[in-house]
Amino acid sequence: MTVLDYLPALNKAATPRIDPAIWPLTTTVDDLGRLCVGELPLTDIADEFRTPTYVLDESDFRRRLQRYRSALPEVEILYAAKSLLTTDIARWVAEEGAGLDVSSGGELAIALAGGMDPARIVLHGNAKPVDELSDAAAVGIGRVVVDSPMEIAYLSCVARRPQSVLIRVTPGIDICGHPAVTTGVNDQKFGFALTDGHAVAAARRILHQPALNLVGLHCHIGSQVTDVTLYGEVIRRMIAAMADIRRSHGVTLHELNIGGGHGVPYVSGDAELNIAELADLIDDALDWACAAERFPRPRIVVEPGRAISARAGVTLYRVVSVKSQPDGRTFVAVDGGMSDNPRVALYGAKYTVALANRHPVGPTKCVTVAGRHCESGDEIARDVELPADIHPGDLLAVAVTGAYQHSMASNYNMVGRPPIVAVQRGQARELVRRETTADLLARDRGWSGAANASGPVARHD
Ligand code: LLP
Repeated sequence: MTVLDYLPALNKAATPRIDPAIWPLTTTVDDLGRLCVGELPLTDIADEFRTPTYVLDESDFRRRLQRYRSALPEVEILYAAKSLLTTDIARWVAEEGAGLDVSSGGELAIALAGGMDPARIVLHGNAKPVDELSDAAAVGIGRVVVDSPMEIAYLSCVARRPQSVLIRVTPGIDICGHPAVTTGVNDQKFGFALTDGHAVAAARRILHQPALNLVGLHCHIGSQVTDVTLYGEVIRRMIAAMADIRRSHGVTLHELNIGGGHGVPYVSGDAELNIAELADLIDDALDWACAAERFPRPRIVVEPGRAISARAGVTLYRVVSVKSQPDGRTFVAVDGGMSDNPRVALYGAKYTVALANRHPVGPTKCVTVAGRHCESGDEIARDVELPADIHPGDLLAVAVTGAYQHSMASNYNMVGRPPIVAVQRGQARELVRRETTADLLARDRGWSGAANASGPVARHD
């Protein structure tokens, strides 16, 4: 199954400009050639909220969650909050019947403020601060995924009632992806290795703590996985580990969380993880592995982040200048950059860019869309085709920017972070407002306060 299978109809979006595998599900092009998302021209959003702005297609986000729920009816879906979280998003996730995976006290607080039931939240992290463990236990978080021997000790001291925990296990599976998001191999910081009995020893420690209730195992092999068969191997090794723990300690664990990492396309032709194939594979692998180990089928949990949020997001930028360097590239410089999208500089990520405010008529040329920040690596997309007459004032839309953009944004060069504007059925709603210069000054202890708020401060707010 691909995205096309659950598009209600391939509507006006099916012009060569807009690949439905990349752009939000509600994307269309109107008669003036403007890109529209959620039945709103992106030019209207840019006029009202200025640029750069993250636009989020609420229907796209919700439909991807619904698709997970229907393809995997017996699997618990936890949306990975690290990819993108606001209180509204936590509410959407709860309304669509999923839980949340959080990785910090901040994500937990936003999840709770959005009304998520604490019992449906799972806490992750390789170095969770003790106060965050204590707060999580105090609010009744569903499960904590423990990641080190020290954390077992900390959590058993701060838990006031029996806390359900899973052990994060490193199954020794290499996704052969970017090293920054490869987490299933031994030589990285997360989890207890299966080799040398580390995971079995962690189980023993937990079982000796009356305040902890060991319910299962967790693993996350990495991100941008498109080969479903890797998850089959995950299940095989994890069921074998559960059987090992039963042999060593006499306990039968009933939950297996196989993490997230489901790959999505960023440019046309990129592969994506097929959820229907994943569903079949989980079933077959469980049948096989549980029969081989004579182990009862555990409850399966998955934690997709990007596969839910990435394609719902589009970032809008205004072109500021167009410059051709002698014997070099043509740079289309925009009013955002690595502060709102660090993924190009960090991982060499590729993006799809489209002119959003008019028909792209006439010839195209190959350009680099560059950001406004003070380093030459500050690029949004290299070697993309844009109309040869691109000029300052044009509006650009960058697709697949819902995941790991706002959540990884910075204030580099003291630039305020963009707002997130949700669109649906012709309505736009700001989920998070733009960060102002006053916000930046508010943390600066040397700033003497509102009395001086004039000139540039006032202008930027
Ligand atoms: N579960 C756990 C335990 C994780 O660590 C992650 C991601 C996920 C689920 C969700 O992974 P997803 O389905 O979104 O790939 N900043 C990087 C991604 C880092 C992902 C870290 N963990 C990027 O921009 O590509």
